[in-house]
Amino acid sequence: MGATILLTGGAGYIGAHTCVALDTAGYIPVIFDDFSNADRNTPARIGQLTGKAVTVVEGNILDKQGLARAFADYQPDAVIHLAARKAVGQSAKHPFLYIENNAAGLINVVGAMRTCGTRTIVFSSSATVYGTPAILPIPETAPLGFTNPYGFTKLIGEQILDQIAEADKDWTVGILRYFNAAGAHGSGLLLPHPEHSSQPAENLMPRLLGVAQGTSDHLKIFGNDWDTPDGTPIRDYIHIEDIARGHVLSLDALMTTQKSHTVNLGTGDGCSVLQMVAAFQNACGREIPCQIAPRRGGDIGICYADVRRARQILGFEAQFSLAEICASAWAVGA
Ligand code: WQD
Repeated sequence: MGATILLTGGAGYIGAHTCVALDTAGYIPVIFDDFSNADRNTPARIGQLTGKAVTVVEGNILDKQGLARAFADYQPDAVIHLAARKAVGQSAKHPFLYIENNAAGLINVVGAMRTCGTRTIVFSSSATVYGTPAILPIPETAPLGFTNPYGFTKLIGEQILDQIAEADKDWTVGILRYFNAAGAHGSGLLLPHPEHSSQPAENLMPRLLGVAQGTSDHLKIFGNDWDTPDGTPIRDYIHIEDIARGHVLSLDALMTTQKSHTVNLGTGDGCSVLQMVAAFQNACGREIPCQIAPRRGGDIGICYADVRRARQILGFEAQFSLAEICASAWAVGA
């Protein structure tokens, strides 16, 4: 029998893809999700892909009793903690909600782990912890910071886990700093961005899909006066299946070495907004009308990963190209 892995936020975009990757690797995923930003059909779709029903516990990480019950019922060997609020713009308007959900939520999850005896956790962090990057490509050792409350919650989440792992060697913590996750599962069965209407997606890929589908008539490009070759900001877009595999490799490393790690999950390649628009037009065969708009508050110019540590510690290497990211997103979104 494989190890049981409890995934908070397991029915969301990253969670669903990670459940499938875990199953392929022989782990047994258990989803803990409140479905506030996940599609209720997702567990059934995961089951279609894996050929077995996935266990789902409906619950919120702010509900300590619900968490305690889930841990008591399933006795997970490890946790992948993905449940979090993640809209940068919303976080600036509602910092309390972000601090409560992302920081207090993490503390509740760790508390439930302590009671149950689970000592292995993979934490969903973000390149946002580099603030305005001081070094490019960004190594894990770069100075850390934040430019909005969302980033603040990810940084303190990392620090909370670092302190726990530092003080008690029984704990092993895998901190994964995602760059820009995008694309969809090759089967077409998992939704690329199951954002619910309460909080429309702010990210580039769902906006590109919206224009290609005709739900909006043009893409606003937030500034073309950045210090980059074409004037638009540069990011490191990484396929969601690569991100999912990164979680499996992180878990494998934690369980075999008993050593904590903090690694970037990126491709190491930078891509500008205009390059992304061109790649997406190519994938969907439609023109994406664009308008230059003012810079978005809190944006940074250039952000892409130094991928050497991920390769060394996890044996991780992104496998999907930008063209595959766009084609897979379009295949599901079309
Ligand atoms: C990418 C680029 C925009 C929309 C954020 C978080 C990060 C991570 C992913 C969360 C930027 C430009 C976008 C549009 C545009 N975490 N853009 N028009 O800002 O790199 O990262 O999301 O889950 O922590 O900070 O991602 O996809 O919003 O933007 O021109 O309509 O596309 O300015 O340069 P970002 P993004």
